[in-house]
Amino acid sequence: MPTSSHPSRRHQHGDHRHGVISGWIVRPYDLFVGLVLRGTYRRIAESLTAGIAPGGRVLDIGTGPGHLVEAIARRRPDLTVTGVDPSADMLRQADRRLTGLPNAHTLQAAAEDLPSASDSIDVVVSTLSSHHWADPAAALAEQSRVLTPGGRLWLFDLTSHLAADIADQIEAAGLVRSDEDAGLSGFVARRLRLLAAQKPLSAA
Ligand SMILES: C[S@@+](CC[C@H](N)C(=O)[O-])C[C@H]1O[C@@H](n2cnc3c(N)ncnc32)[C@H](O)[C@@H]1O
Repeated sequence: MPTSSHPSRRHQHGDHRHGVISGWIVRPYDLFVGLVLRGTYRRIAESLTAGIAPGGRVLDIGTGPGHLVEAIARRRPDLTVTGVDPSADMLRQADRRLTGLPNAHTLQAAAEDLPSASDSIDVVVSTLSSHHWADPAAALAEQSRVLTPGGRLWLFDLTSHLAADIADQIEAAGLVRSDEDAGLSGFVARRLRLLAAQKPLSAA
């Protein structure tokens, strides 16, 4: 069973509701991405998990209805996969999807205030969410904090929506940019950009 702490809202501090998606749009959004992007989430899950050691931890930021968490958790039952989102409505949808997957979890949290311990996450991933974050610099600093030394960040967003300075913000957060290939092609690859980075093994 997925575990979820969103009824308590215990990680929802401050004003992180900037681009939170809730209400009637949640179900149509879930249906739409399920139809259009299911194969994309599967390919991302394949590429992303290739280098993760058994028993590793993955955090999906702005998980929405949880399609990517499901794809990763199904592909690698040995991993613990957690999806966070400030939207209780999105997390309800995700919890339905993740029922029966013991290694999949959700938590109500914003990218700027993550519920994970420092140096605890092997891979942080996010799809289509970064342009919703209220404070991208703070969010990237949080992602850098929770990554293990050597841990990886895979940030996907619509090329047309990515902030011009997001790559600089990744580096300002102490991460080192890397070239990764998510194996995406065609229609999706032209619209989604991957910004990948790694946390240095030791502080410079
Ligand atoms: C377009 S949806 C993408 C959902 C999912 N990742 C996907 O690929 O379908 C954007 C998500 O980002 C979430 N979001 C908005 N502000 C956020 C923040 N500050 N931190 C984390 N997620 C946020 C929204 O609630 C929404 O679920």
